[in-house]
Amino acid sequence: MTQKTRIVLSSDHAAIDLRQTIAAHVSEQGYEVIDIGPTTTESTHYPKHGQAAAQKIVAGEADLGIILCGTGQGIMMAANKVPGIRCGVCSDTFSARMIREHNDANMISIGARVVGEGLALDIVDAYLSAEFEGGRHATRVEMIEG
Ligand code: RB5
Repeated sequence: MTQKTRIVLSSDHAAIDLRQTIAAHVSEQGYEVIDIGPTTTESTHYPKHGQAAAQKIVAGEADLGIILCGTGQGIMMAANKVPGIRCGVCSDTFSARMIREHNDANMISIGARVVGEGLALDIVDAYLSAEFEGGRHATRVEMIEG
């Protein structure tokens, strides 16, 4: 049996609703969802949630990650501090596709105060359905990793 691709999700308080909507959508698409919260709208700190999701990937417990905060920016910065993580903010479907095809991003970040629900789900679909092209892009990704 082929193992399902495992998607880890996390957010801060600014993106609880959108994260849960994305989690349900991703699950319906047949992916395994690892939603590490938080579950309440109590104010919290995005770095710890971004880094917790990133750690799941570098530990081999998840394959890809989708993280969210108000803008997507802060949580993306935090996740990228974890060695081995390549994450970018995606506010459009072209970037969501290209960040996988050319940059082999293992996470994307979305701003819940930036994009609406419909666009967010399209961004997720574009990212998850794309594939890394390798070749010259692999050389460049290796240069990012240092
Ligand atoms: C929280 O108010 C907000 O600063 C956070 O969600 C995010 O936008 C930070 O980058």
